[in-house]
Amino acid sequence: MAVLYRSDAARGAAWARFFAEHAPDLDFRVWPDAGNLADIEYLIAWQAPPEFIASLPRLRVLFSSGAGVDHVDFSALPAHVPLVRMVEPGIIDGMVEYVSLAVLALHRDFFDYVAQKSSRSWNPIEVPPASSRRVGVMGLGSLGTAVLERLAVYGFRLRGWNRSARTLAGVETFSSAEQLRPFLEGSDILVCLLPLTAETQGMLNREVFAALPAGASLINVGRGPHVVDADLLAALDSGRLSRAILDVTDPEPLPAGHPFWGHPRVFVTPHVASMTQPETAAPILLDNIRRHRRGDFLVGMVDRTKGY
Ligand code: GLV
Repeated sequence: MAVLYRSDAARGAAWARFFAEHAPDLDFRVWPDAGNLADIEYLIAWQAPPEFIASLPRLRVLFSSGAGVDHVDFSALPAHVPLVRMVEPGIIDGMVEYVSLAVLALHRDFFDYVAQKSSRSWNPIEVPPASSRRVGVMGLGSLGTAVLERLAVYGFRLRGWNRSARTLAGVETFSSAEQLRPFLEGSDILVCLLPLTAETQGMLNREVFAALPAGASLINVGRGPHVVDADLLAALDSGRLSRAILDVTDPEPLPAGHPFWGHPRVFVTPHVASMTQPETAAPILLDNIRRHRRGDFLVGMVDRTKGY
């Protein structure tokens, strides 16, 4: 029985150190030193190409090394092999930091002052209190929930939309396609933390931008394909939306000629909002392997019919 890590090479060493110290009974291997592939029962991977999955005859669980699983070809994964996404405090903390930074930057007109500095202008912009700024988060999983909890500290008016109904203290929640519009109509800053599925692809489109209050802003920390780029550019150019902060794009890296780069009201970061941290993720993964070995449920199981 062996565990194979096949993801970010630099961080593989940290994973291996953790397993050597805390689970010396487990044969933990780091790609490309995979040894005999017939030994591999647990795979921790980001990219798991179908031909590689097919080369692991004893695979029992596939763990995504990230929070998302949209890069996994479900049809290549045998039905008896569960897929587990990464739910770990390091990813959650990173996302909470990034979204707080982005929401506060928008709330406090930070990008206007960046522009003012380059033109040497001194023009104070009036700031409404946080209690009158409405922040709407789409996707109320572990990340969306943690983001809303932290934003509550600043006093923002909070709302959340989720495919299925959720109740969160201090948050006005909406669910299903019917309640999308009323949710959007009251979101001055819209944060996308949805999983990417066939249903959510292209969801941030013309209709959604038209339903937001005039001058609203978008923060996308989901996946690039959630956004219809041409619709976003049109909404920014017409003034319907005031700004977009995008940590994810389609494709990645964003090509040098893409209009987002040069757009004065689009801010792009290279998919860095949040990353799995070996220090906090490895203990959770080890616990999940132990759970699987004693026949317990796994934390972070993906429902393949839903795609997340
Ligand atoms: C990053 O995007 C992840 O899915 O962890």
